[in-house]
Amino acid sequence: MSSRVPLRLYVNGDRHDIEVEPRRTLADALREDCGLTGTHLGCEHGVCGACTVLVDGQPVRSCLMFAVQAEDASVRTVEGLAPDDDRMHPVQQAFWENHGLQCGFCTPGFLVLAAGHLETHPDAGEEELREVLSSNLCRCTGYQNILKATMCAARAMRKELDA
Ligand code: FES
Ligand code: FES
Repeated sequence: MSSRVPLRLYVNGDRHDIEVEPRRTLADALREDCGLTGTHLGCEHGVCGACTVLVDGQPVRSCLMFAVQAEDASVRTVEGLAPDDDRMHPVQQAFWENHGLQCGFCTPGFLVLAAGHLETHPDAGEEELREVLSSNLCRCTGYQNILKATMCAARAMRKELDA
């Protein structure tokens, strides 16, 4: 007898009707059932933040959340950041321009974390952004370019709001 349960997820504005084991993580459901492999899995223990996604606008470790807990919520992954196929999200653009990544493994988590925060706190300054970014780990960059890129994205987003 299957212990899978039907689940309706809304990810990046698209509805996904899937069936999952009750203990399946949101990260596994996104990657394996929805085909959205941009969300990376590092530690799978809630430490590294590589799996960060937004659930109803809040950053969550998707390796720690059960998929069924996200039923009917609005989930946003790195694939859903760019406004369309021709433009990057300001945070993606800034990471690109400021060398905010090296191997890129941690990058989806940082992009989602930074975008989610700046969209709701466009006036965030350096100290606040240092605090926000400190929840995720990067083994390559030394963090300076990640911070620089996020501050650059903040300026670009404020400019867009003022335009
Ligand atoms: Fe989720 Fe590391 S993979 S916190
Ligand atoms: Fe390699 Fe961050 S760029 S882990």
